[in-house]
Amino acid sequence: MPAGIRIDHLNHWFNRNDPPVLQDISVAVPPGQSLALVGESGCGKSTLLNMIAGMIRPTAGSIHIGQTRVLGPRPEWNIMFQHAALYPWLNVVDNVALGLEFAGIGKARRITAMDMLDRVGLRDKARSRPRDLSGGQQQRVALARSLVMSPSVLLLDEPFSALDTFTRTDLQDEVLGIVAEQGISLVQVTHDLDEAIIMGDRIGVMERSPGRIHALVDNRMTRPRRPGMPGFADMRDELLAAFGRARRSPSTPVTSTEAAPSMAVGL
Ligand SMILES: Nc1ncnc2c1ncn2[C@@H]1O[C@H](COP(=O)(O)OP(=O)(O)OP(=O)(O)O)[C@@H](O)[C@H]1O
Ligand SMILES: [Mg+2]
Repeated sequence: MPAGIRIDHLNHWFNRNDPPVLQDISVAVPPGQSLALVGESGCGKSTLLNMIAGMIRPTAGSIHIGQTRVLGPRPEWNIMFQHAALYPWLNVVDNVALGLEFAGIGKARRITAMDMLDRVGLRDKARSRPRDLSGGQQQRVALARSLVMSPSVLLLDEPFSALDTFTRTDLQDEVLGIVAEQGISLVQVTHDLDEAIIMGDRIGVMERSPGRIHALVDNRMTRPRRPGMPGFADMRDELLAAFGRARRSPSTPVTSTEAAPSMAVGL
């Protein structure tokens, strides 16, 4: 069921003596919309994604998906990492169908799984074992496994970085198509500014230490977005400038004690 994401005044410390890993993050992603996150290594992108998925509890602030406050993971909030974690003893179609099996979806699950494999271009590999697939093919199986669950939220942590340009473009299109079709809220972390422009209706440029959203840029281009289209290079320049400013931004050491009053709303 479509459900937007809302993050309110989120703060997080892994270590109380360090600056916060994430500081005062507030952002919303409506159903069917996407947010791309970029920022230098270590700025907290994966941590934020894991928090939306309910895998890490923020020190303070809240995350809601639809009306539900995120307090732990749920099958309909789907996160996919850079490295596909497939079960080596199951063949490809069974890997894709596994979540449906856990969800108690019966006989139709193989057909659904095969349809999704078709969409990611891997129908002919259905009976193969993951070890007999290339890294990019394994990543596509993981994507099919995420999408087959009809998630309300899809969280992608650099999922396409190991793919060739053509496969990546196909999968970006496929993901955006399914996101729009099913009203999924998408958050995608990427190190590639072009990918951020293609995938993100909004693009969050993060700064590090403390990890903050330095700029939230509305994507002026409508889908489908392709490098070379009018306006694309301007968007890239704008993001590059914001990225540069975020890197130069002086970090303000804020300790957990100083920020203590706002932590009263913590989980
Ligand atoms: N479980 C943890 N315990 C302590 N510190 C952590 C933990 N996980 C992440 N960190 C620290 O939090 C910061 C943010 O890490 P995170 O993985 O979110 O960065 P990132 O933006 O995803 O980086 P990259 O682009 O390299 O993937 C880093 O300084 C990291 O060392
Ligand atoms: Mg990361």
